[in-house]
Parts: sequence; structure tokens; C-alpha cells
Amino acid sequence: MDNLEFTDAVKQLAERCGLQVPTDREADRRAYLRTRMFAVNRETANFYFRNLISGSDKRGLQYFISRQLKPETIKKYGLGYASDSWNALTDYLLQKGFTEEELLLANVAHRSNKGNLYDAFRGRVMFPIVDTRGAVIGFGGRVLDDSQPKYLNTAKTPVFDKGSNLFSLNFAKDSSSTIMILAEGYMDVIAINQAGFSNVVATLGTAITPEHARKLSRFAKEVVIAYDSDGPGQQATQKAINRLSEVGIATRILHMTGAKDPDEYIKKYGSERFRLLLESAGDAINFRLDRCKEGLDPDTEAGKVQLLKRVVSVLAEIQNPLEREVYLSRTANKWEISAEVLHQQVERTIRSKKKLASTQAWKDIIEHTVRPEPQQPQSAIPLREYKAEERILCYVLNRPDESAWIIEQIQPDAFPTPLYRQVLEAFADSVKRQTGFSLSAMGDVLSDSEMGKLSGISARNQEIPVTAEEVKDCIRTLKNDMPSAIETDEDLLKLIQKKQHPDG
Ligand code: UTP
Ligand code: MN
Repeated sequence: MDNLEFTDAVKQLAERCGLQVPTDREADRRAYLRTRMFAVNRETANFYFRNLISGSDKRGLQYFISRQLKPETIKKYGLGYASDSWNALTDYLLQKGFTEEELLLANVAHRSNKGNLYDAFRGRVMFPIVDTRGAVIGFGGRVLDDSQPKYLNTAKTPVFDKGSNLFSLNFAKDSSSTIMILAEGYMDVIAINQAGFSNVVATLGTAITPEHARKLSRFAKEVVIAYDSDGPGQQATQKAINRLSEVGIATRILHMTGAKDPDEYIKKYGSERFRLLLESAGDAINFRLDRCKEGLDPDTEAGKVQLLKRVVSVLAEIQNPLEREVYLSRTANKWEISAEVLHQQVERTIRSKKKLASTQAWKDIIEHTVRPEPQQPQSAIPLREYKAEERILCYVLNRPDESAWIIEQIQPDAFPTPLYRQVLEAFADSVKRQTGFSLSAMGDVLSDSEMGKLSGISARNQEIPVTAEEVKDCIRTLKNDMPSAIETDEDLLKLIQKKQHPDG
């Protein structure tokens, strides 16, 4: 609960019970170093803060004011400013009695090739990172202009690891809410906090790790993901959903329109609208799902079929597969439709939509191509299987480390196209020998045009990312145990009845 290291926890408990903890030189030294790191960081944070508030160079303060931070917010977060100087902090800390080694270990200074120490952060506004006990463990620093890198974060030290720490958790942990807002960066967190929501954190220049997720699960039952509305932000959202669901945290996703991130949104529309956005996150879909029942009598068979069709079309529009599954199972429970039937129908709808889109894409390409593609020898293979093979391959090529399970479900033999079979065999082999797998390793055995074809398949993941769910479907396709095609209302009805009366 107090986020203590193991040895610190033992010491604290021993003290409480009046016991002696046996001393261990190495452990003592580590404990000593940690306290020194905390001390260096605290002095550093104070130095930057004083420099921001009362230094002669006012650019840092001006920057924060231009980003509409209130004085009390600056104080609350202990924000600071590292001036352009190469040695202001280093000199100050050495004069305070810290050693060069301690400065280097805490990552607040680096050593030059000539052997001199220099300040790690220069010309940046500073964000101290504080752990749940209130100790300063590291820093983020942002440039004042458009230069790169925009943010610099403390690298790993004896007291800091970006893979397990969250910015602003020191404030968020005290919130009475069981909901946590997960933002992308420092300024978003501070803007959200300033708008009146203390239950907000961000990871520090890294994607969310399983450790972050575990830590969050100690403080929250539900996380609202408030990442940027741009492409990378949405990809990160997918990753966060996965990580959080692994530790049993429910997620909702904040959809901002008219602003790229929460900071911008709050500036543009104010705190109240942000609150509404938070409260309604995820509700748009529920709202639409609820409305599917309008004008229908779900107790009649015709009503049930209509309802199913409407629900399927709403669910099929949810882009994020995990989010989709969440709503799908809720809907299935609510209207006592078999989740399996619902899933099959939704997948069918999505597939036919994708097919429609790609047919159009092909038409466009063909219209603009003078010389038609030579007939592929693989064309004797039914198109559906050909696609299934390619999608599985695409997944394996993009995520070889997460693909071992595929080999357990389908043999390379089941791949009709010789080239693809060959790749899958090589992959299966690498899994068996635990050697790791990459396309480039096949450069020796494959021709340039074969390699070209494979990289083409791999690159398609960028347009339509393959999910594990889709791979499972493709495996079913190749194994020929696809659910039989469902076309008519009578078919749908039969399915519903079959699932509701398993004995009938
Ligand atoms: P963004 O580039 O989205 O910045 O990075 P931002 O949070 O909107 O920042 P402002 O509003 O321009 O100040 C999001 C987060 O990614 C990390 C930081 O933690 C940042 O807050 N990041 C970004 C880095 O670590 N290094 C970088 O160079 C850029
Ligand atoms: Mn921003």
C-alpha cells in the first residue's frame, strides 16, 4: 500500500514490532544510494522551481502562462525551468555536497568526452515525477519551441523506471473515484487536473506496460482512455485496452472531436464540456444499441430478427475489436441472443464491408494500370482461402513473437499456396527451436519476387491491421469449418431458435 521496496517494508515492519533486521552490506549500500537519489532529485526539483519563479530568465514562466497554467497549478506540480546554462545545476548540487557519481547515477548530469560534468536538461520547462510516497523520482523536460526532441525524460536510475511509473499518480491515488483517466502526456494530465479531475495519470514517453496496468489496477476499477485523436494515439489506445483488460480493468474510450488532445479540448470548450465528454464516453454506442428496439416487439419472431439485424449493423461499426466484443457480450446478455450467433453475424458484416472496399480499390487500380497483372498460378485456389492464408501470414510476419499459438491450431500443410506453406514451415521451425523469426532470414531461400510478394503482404497490416480474432476466423476458413452461410431471415430465425433451445 505504501509502495515500499521489499527491504524498506521489512525494516518498517521490524521497527514497528521492535525487531532487529540483520544487516547486509550490499542491501545497505543500495538503500543508501536510493536515499541519495531521492535527495538529489528533491534538490534538483527545488532548484528548477526557484529558477522558474524567481530566476532572471523568465522564458519558462512565460511558456507555462502561455499554456494557461494557473499559478497554483505550477506550484502544485512543482514545475520548473532549466535555463540554457551547461552547469548551473551541476555546480549547485556539487556545492551542496553531492558527488559527481551521484549526479550521474540520478541522470541529472552527464559526463562530456573531456571528462567534465554538464547539466542533462537545458532550455526546458521541467516536470518532476513524484511517486506515491511523495518522493521525486525523475523528470520530464519540454523544449520551449519546435526543436527536437520535444520531451526528454529521465533514463533508468536506481529509483526510476519509466516502464513502471505514472505521472501524477501521487495526486490520482488520493482521488475518491474508482475511475482513472489515462492521458498521453504531461500537459494533458496537468490540464485535466487543473480542470478539476485529480484522477488522471499518464505514462512517461512510453507505451503502457503490463506493470503500469498492474499498478493502475490497485487504484482503479475502470479506466477512461483519453489519448490523442490522431493515428498513433488510436493505435496506443488499442494497446492500452489490451494491457488493461489483462489485469481486469474495464475501459472506456474518450472520443474528442474538434481537438487533438484533452489539453486542447479543455482550452477550446472548457471544463464542463470535458466533464460531459467523460461522463458520456462509450455511451454513444449504448444509446444507439438501445434505440435498436424502437418500434419492434422482441417477443415476436419477426421482431427478434429485425432487432438482431439492427444490433449487428451498430456493432459492426465499432472499429476497435475489443471494444466491439465488450458491447457484443453486453447486448447478447441483455436480449438473450447467443453471443456466438451475434459474433458470427457481426464478423460476416465486417468482412463483406471490407470486401466491398477492397473490390473498389482493385477497380481503381485496374482502371489506372496499363498492363494487366500476369495471371497468378495460385488463382486455382478459391479466393476466400487465398485471402485467409495471406491474412494469417500478415499477422505472423508482423508479430512473430505473438504467433506461436497459430502453429498449434493449424499445420503449415493446410496452406494451399506453396510459398506461404514454406514460410509457415520456417516459422514453425523457429518456434520449435526458439530462435526467433523474421522475413529477412528467408532472403537466402526465396527469390526476390517471392520476397517482394511477402513484404507486400506484411505491409498490408498498416492499412488493415490483422487481429488475433481475425486470424482465428481465417484458420477456420482454411480448415473448412466456417459456419455455413446465413442469408435469409428464416435462416437467422432458425439460428436464434437453435441457440435458445439447445435441446430442441
Ligand atoms: P505529444 O507529442 O503528443 O505531446 O507527446 P503533448 O503531450 O501533446 O505535449 P505538448 O502539448 O506539445 O506539450 C505525448 C507524450 O509523449 C512523450 C511525452 O511524455 C509526451 O507528454 N514524448 C513525446 C516524449 O517522451 N518525447 C518526445 O519527444 C515526444
Ligand atoms: Mn498537446
